[in-house]
Amino acid sequence: MTFDAFISAERNGWHSRAEIYATHTAYATLQIVPAMLDALGLRPGMRMLDVACGPGYVAGAAAALEMDVQGIDYATGMIAAAQKRFPDLSFKVGDAEALPFADADFDAVACNMGLFHMADPLQAMREAGRVLRNGGRFSFSQWAAPGESTLYGLLFAALKETADLSRADPAPDAYVLSDVKVVQDMLSKAGFTDIKTTRLETVLIAHGADFFDFFMKFGVRVPLIVGAQNPDVQQRLRDRINADMAPFATNKGFEVPMPSLLYTGTKK
Ligand SMILES: C[S@@+](CC[C@H](N)C(=O)[O-])C[C@H]1O[C@@H](n2cnc3c(N)ncnc32)[C@H](O)[C@@H]1O
Repeated sequence: MTFDAFISAERNGWHSRAEIYATHTAYATLQIVPAMLDALGLRPGMRMLDVACGPGYVAGAAAALEMDVQGIDYATGMIAAAQKRFPDLSFKVGDAEALPFADADFDAVACNMGLFHMADPLQAMREAGRVLRNGGRFSFSQWAAPGESTLYGLLFAALKETADLSRADPAPDAYVLSDVKVVQDMLSKAGFTDIKTTRLETVLIAHGADFFDFFMKFGVRVPLIVGAQNPDVQQRLRDRINADMAPFATNKGFEVPMPSLLYTGTKK
């Protein structure tokens, strides 16, 4: 089975969301950044790579702490947004599975909510290890699986019960990396030791009165599934998801628990 069609649609999806990312997805992913920088053991002067950097928030936060940073993302729109937001920092278009950097070039590698979008996350871990110096740390984040997440539990129940999932292009399992044991094995295969996992109580912060409309701009994978359904199914999904999220309404929009996992390993 090939994931080519899905990966290409994902890349286009992130490219076209670059301008709205700050007001949609970043409200969730930014909550992880302080713990990630801490887990990486960063000190001023260290050289850090931000993989799948999106608009460059991890790189920007590390640069504010006097790190020497480099960002990389395969979506050109994201790199343009990162360069606009942080004009003095260095960003590059490129693939996490084939990093265009020399061996042992970095003291630390970060990847905030990037790995599960990739066709071969083990290859991306190996690449992170290759560009790290010995003793350098790699840290990446992942959403908790539907069974442990209010948001994804409700969302995937709605999709399973309402939509025909086989209409969407085959995609890598988004929750393989939510299994701590699987990730520990992968990280050790990729050459990491001293592997640590932390659970973070992250929350989806949605603005506006219509949760479904917000969520269609939050990520790429679910909109691809929704877009592959007939119009009547799309309407039923909208109604069901909005009803399921109603208990989480606030005076500004919605706040729905979506815990995440932070994994960190040290290059042997
Ligand atoms: C959810 S966003 C995370 C952005 C950012 N790290 C943050 O902290 O918000 C996922 C990002 O992964 C990027 N991405 C996905 N697969 C990639 C790959 N194989 N190589 C490089 N970037 C990739 C997407 O373009 C997108 O910008």
